[in-house]
Amino acid sequence: MRRPIIAGNWKMNNTIAAGTALIKALTPLVKDVKDVDIVACPTATALQAVRAAAEGTNIHIGAQNVHWAANGAYTGEISTEMLTEIGVEYVVLGHSERRDYFGETDEGVNKRAKAAFAAGLTPIICCGESLEIREKGTYLAFVAGQIKAALNGFTAQQVAKLVAAYEPIWAIGTGKTATFEQAEEVCAHIRKTVAEMFNQTAADEIRIQYGGSVKPATIRGLMEKPNVDGALVGGAALKAADFSEIVKF
Ligand code: 13P
Repeated sequence: MRRPIIAGNWKMNNTIAAGTALIKALTPLVKDVKDVDIVACPTATALQAVRAAAEGTNIHIGAQNVHWAANGAYTGEISTEMLTEIGVEYVVLGHSERRDYFGETDEGVNKRAKAAFAAGLTPIICCGESLEIREKGTYLAFVAGQIKAALNGFTAQQVAKLVAAYEPIWAIGTGKTATFEQAEEVCAHIRKTVAEMFNQTAADEIRIQYGGSVKPATIRGLMEKPNVDGALVGGAALKAADFSEIVKF
């Protein structure tokens, strides 16, 4: 059985003060959760303080991006060692906001994912189609293409340890959650793509999250779907009460 993983992507929200306060508020609400991996992904400047605030709790820390190079002339970027040195365990990669607003490509996501995995970080690799692609009806092929590109060069054993996040762009921040069936259809297709590209074990073990307007009211229906193993939560992860309810689906 795959262990559920619920991650909060804080995006460009929460200073050190606000982020540590959120962790302090969240900690008692989720302390008894044993069978779910809980991850909080603050901005880079708050990572170290939020990690310290989460010390000794069941809340793990993820970054929102990482560069592929070990170091060097990459202004504005952060290396894997800079994350591992402060105890970061996960990293969100290829979020649609990175792709759409900052020109990140499938090839870059693949390079970031390989570097992150090699450094011992668990990549959360995002994929998902725009409304235009959804309406054209080509979304399964589009998402499969993103997944194939992101996983190029990995081995089956490595892929088994990764996390993928299906986030339809039309459902992000819009209040418009995909139906449980829509989420399941694409998550199942991602798993099938992994089986074809690697093997059945990798497909059975990779964890696949759904993301896009996940709320306490929708998490259970999503988690009941056989191919949805968790959620990548944006807005609702900024409130301790909402995020704790989601974690305790
Ligand atoms: P919302 O939950 O705010 O729609 O954001 C989803 C998301 O993009 C998480 O990475």
